[in-house]
Amino acid sequence: MKYIIEHMEDEMYDWCIIEYNHISKVVGSENLLITNVKVDAEKIKHLGKIVPESVSELGLDLKQVCLLDPEAKERLDTEDKKEFDYLLFGGILGDFPRKERTKELAAKIACQKRNLGDKQMSTNTAVYVAYLIMKGKKFEDIHFAEELEIVTGANESVTLPFRYVIENSEVVLPDGFIEFMKHKEDF
Ligand SMILES: C[S@@+](CC[C@H](N)C(=O)[O-])C[C@H]1O[C@@H](n2cnc3c(N)ncnc32)[C@H](O)[C@@H]1O
Repeated sequence: MKYIIEHMEDEMYDWCIIEYNHISKVVGSENLLITNVKVDAEKIKHLGKIVPESVSELGLDLKQVCLLDPEAKERLDTEDKKEFDYLLFGGILGDFPRKERTKELAAKIACQKRNLGDKQMSTNTAVYVAYLIMKGKKFEDIHFAEELEIVTGANESVTLPFRYVIENSEVVLPDGFIEFMKHKEDF
């Protein structure tokens, strides 16, 4: 299975790089294609194949592509690995309330769609959940936390209102994510 991330932010933010780093580690750089990268491609060139074109311009056989979209009617299933060669995700930072930008991607590419539950996850968490399902794990057997509180100072914390995977009683997060959040100035 190849994993495609359509980068949809105007810049290559540090937060995007942290997420893409995690995705590359999970799926392997040989299985990762990041599309629509118009700026700062060199910052992520070691993570996979990076191209400036949108996924919609690559001439892929759309029958083999599945967009992961929270609005899709059907949930991704382990059997889907027989049907698809590419899983496609929006390279979009989480927002609350949801801006539903995955819809912009859906409008660009007429492929099938699947959801990963009805809660918003970061792109790297969505890829991780899809990866587990492609490896045969049932969605029902994946444990989730519905938000994440990170202590950023003596009397300060920030709560991220997104769904995260729990494994061995720990939240699955990209390397350096907690440190990044502690030093981030604005939210
Ligand atoms: C942070 S989410 C983007 C959510 C954003 N609020 C939007 O505008 O759609 C980034 C990507 O992760 C994937 N994703 C996140 N949660 C998902 C879910 N519950 N089901 C399917 N895909 C999901 C989608 O591919 C989505 O484009």
